[in-house]
Amino acid sequence: MAPSLPEVVPADVVIVGGGVAGMMAALHAGRRRVVLLSDRPVGRSGSSFLAQGGIAVALGPGDSPERHALDTLEAADGLADPAVVHMVTSEGPRRIREILALGARFDRDDSGRLAFGREGAHSLRRVLHANGDATGAELSRTLAEAVARSENIRIVQGHRAEALLVADGRVAGVVTVTTDGSRRIFAASSVVLATGGLGHLFQRTTNPPEARGSGLAVAAWAGAELADLEMVQFHPTALADGSDPAPLLTEALRGEGAVLVDGEGRPVMAGVHPAGDLAPRDVVSRVLWRCLQEGRPVYLDARPIGERLQRRFPTVHELCRRRDLDAGTQPIPVAPAAHYHMGGIMVDEHGKSTIPGLWACGEVACTGLHGANRLASNSLLEALVYGARVGEDVAARLAAVPRPGEVRVAWRELVEGGIVVPGAPQGERDRVAEGVRGILWRGVGVERDAAGLRHALDSLEGLAGKESRVAEVSVAGWILRSALERRSSRGAHLRTDADPADDGLYRVVVRRGRVWRRRLAWMAARTAERAQTGR
Ligand code: FUM
Repeated sequence: MAPSLPEVVPADVVIVGGGVAGMMAALHAGRRRVVLLSDRPVGRSGSSFLAQGGIAVALGPGDSPERHALDTLEAADGLADPAVVHMVTSEGPRRIREILALGARFDRDDSGRLAFGREGAHSLRRVLHANGDATGAELSRTLAEAVARSENIRIVQGHRAEALLVADGRVAGVVTVTTDGSRRIFAASSVVLATGGLGHLFQRTTNPPEARGSGLAVAAWAGAELADLEMVQFHPTALADGSDPAPLLTEALRGEGAVLVDGEGRPVMAGVHPAGDLAPRDVVSRVLWRCLQEGRPVYLDARPIGERLQRRFPTVHELCRRRDLDAGTQPIPVAPAAHYHMGGIMVDEHGKSTIPGLWACGEVACTGLHGANRLASNSLLEALVYGARVGEDVAARLAAVPRPGEVRVAWRELVEGGIVVPGAPQGERDRVAEGVRGILWRGVGVERDAAGLRHALDSLEGLAGKESRVAEVSVAGWILRSALERRSSRGAHLRTDADPADDGLYRVVVRRGRVWRRRLAWMAARTAERAQTGR
């Protein structure tokens, strides 16, 4: 007998995730009854709040959306969708003006104009920042205040999405669970997942503990397609002092003159790439990883920034100071750490997933903007642009709230399918999730090969058993199998055993446990072009 139905709360729209993308979607959902679910306080949730570097946007002198698009495409190593890239870089300035109108305070120069910073793979200064290196916090504050003022948005805190209800092939709501194990059903015909990334599935990460890919699992269990899960970006300069998560030393430090050096003070990026320390993130991470594998520690030397360091980078200065490190006088030990997921729930230009009634935005979504390697500080911009698009699309397509009978049947199917397991102890899930972190770090880290990926899959099976429905295990398995499927190197996916005959111009798609390649029309055109030009 299925356990009794949890309390059912009806809504027009349910948005899961209290970060920048989720809040933006809520604010653009018009006059609909929105429930905004968040496991942590809204505006202090996930990675948005922690973002240091800033927001890339083509608003500065000499810049244009076209130039921003070119840099994005170049960094993405051939896998970013050109139409999506142009759309985001063109729509970005409008969304930034909107945020300014809501009261966001970005840093300005002495004459009061917006100040732009430089980060890796940007061809000019393009990155807005706030309070030096606390951009995510300022953006989150601005949006959280706007959400609090909005009468149609109801915030429900302390709830994690456990599963999606599906009735007649369309999403009918969300089952949530609190830390004390109590469940609720939020019944709605429109659900938005803005649950963030999965960096915390890796042993070394800059991401907070809640970034464990839960949104990917619930979307996939409901039948949605996921794409390019193997594309995990490693940030080169996470502080290497054993902290978990590893604090970030923003790339903007290198934009202002900091240099990566070895123990003898020799610059490690010299002669590797024309952009030196500001090479694309995948390139820098790889160089640092190989230094560390050879037993050569790497340091970020921020002394060239001089006395401006503390004022321009108060967050970094403070996090070092708390560890008795002084970035102004000594090189700081750094190492790559899992930082951002380019893959995710496959969505169209409005954030619509492949199942009716489900949208996704922010890091959990795979829009095609980032390809194989995200350009620094493009993620907050994507969260603003897609958050707004999703909210508007949801508002325009509203369907009736699912009927009680539909909700009951959908709930029973979740229990019978073993997706919701009433009474399953949280402690066991945490133990398994912790085991996943070591397996992924060793198996699908900065460098991968088939033998390591297969070994990781075996270890995963040993950890949880074949039938496990632990979200972290499911997601880890799909990442490993996607990495096996992509046999060539592209961007952040570095196969040391790459197949030279494989051009890597495809998406790796996961649906209902099956993994396969899909070549999109623009990819096929690129392949033809490469065949003609030899490039
Ligand atoms: O280095 C950073 O501040 C990170 C920026 C980003 O991930 O976009």
